[in-house]
Amino acid sequence: MAKQHIKMTVNGEEKEFLSEPRELLIHTLRDKLGLKGPHVGCETSHCGACTVEINGKSVKACTMFAVQANGAEITTIEGLGSPDKLHVLQESFKEHHGLQCGYCTPGMITRAHRLLQENPNPTEEEVRFGIAGNICRCTGYQNIVKSILSAAAEINAAKEAAQ
Ligand code: FES
Ligand code: FES
Repeated sequence: MAKQHIKMTVNGEEKEFLSEPRELLIHTLRDKLGLKGPHVGCETSHCGACTVEINGKSVKACTMFAVQANGAEITTIEGLGSPDKLHVLQESFKEHHGLQCGYCTPGMITRAHRLLQENPNPTEEEVRFGIAGNICRCTGYQNIVKSILSAAAEINAAKEAAQ
């Protein structure tokens, strides 16, 4: 089938390219746009390693075609922080050992970021429910949850201090 002209904003930058209708968004992000943060785990929407934010929602990028994201605003882990300036969630995962092999981590943090946007002060149960679609094969959930709760507390404290 003929390639289609696609435009999207990724991590604040406008991107334009041609895409075959069968091309999954995760492959576009990784192979066309060079964003290797979102990972491919299962490609069947089970693991969450490919999680990104699309128009303010957590989406598993293996579950949609790039052409379906035409015109969308997308944020990947690369848009949250950088090696020089980590996002508070990234700092927290580092501090609380929220990762082991790290394979699930970009998707986990991207999902946690959206979760805290929707619920800035979650309980432990709400965090566990919120990340239920993201699987950690190293089973490091205890420290992942701790990392997210700690980041939430830090973000809230910073907001209070700024008032
Ligand atoms: S690679 Fe997308 S959910 Fe596993
Ligand atoms: S840290 Fe290894 S899969 Fe989660």
